Amino acid sequence: MMSTLITDHKLLRQHARKHVEAGAVTQGYQAGRSDVVRMLNAALASELICVLRYRSHYFIAKGIHACTVAAEFLEHSNEELQHVDWLAERIVQLGGEPDFSPQGVIERGQSVFGIAVNLYEMIKENLVEERVAIDHYKELLLFIGDDDPTSSALIQNILQTEEQHANELASLLWGLPEQHN
Ligand SMILES: [Fe+2]
Ligand SMILES: [Fe+2]
Repeated sequence: MMSTLITDHKLLRQHARKHVEAGAVTQGYQAGRSDVVRMLNAALASELICVLRYRSHYFIAKGIHACTVAAEFLEHSNEELQHVDWLAERIVQLGGEPDFSPQGVIERGQSVFGIAVNLYEMIKENLVEERVAIDHYKELLLFIGDDDPTSSALIQNILQTEEQHANELASLLWGLPEQHN
């Protein structure tokens, strides 16, 4: 027999009518809201850095006629931007403010914006950053636990893409000629 109690509908409605201005944040929201918003903003900052790094590498790779790799960088950049949007939407739902201010992006985020010298270095740098993001999102999932299923689902969704990105970059790296290694 299940031990979880299901709250009576009338009581749920009573709770729902209180603080309607809080929108999606109901009485049943169990996570520490300001902590979650802060962490989602940190993730947003990391994603912004990834958008820029991939974008910059796209133009450099295109310039050296590495079309396949350039196309991959552009696709990843666009997907990181999608992550930015999803995180910002969730932050707003939680009553927070998505922090897009360029000042402090590096401090808030986990990712770095390095200067790569060749194609091999560019791919490797992005791969390292994807691996940092993967571990960071896994830690976020552990922190949130069962307290905010919507944020968890969002992070899992993003995590899945970051793992795909890492996998694709690793394949590109193996495909490069020896002299780049
Ligand atoms: Fe991302
Ligand atoms: Fe990624």
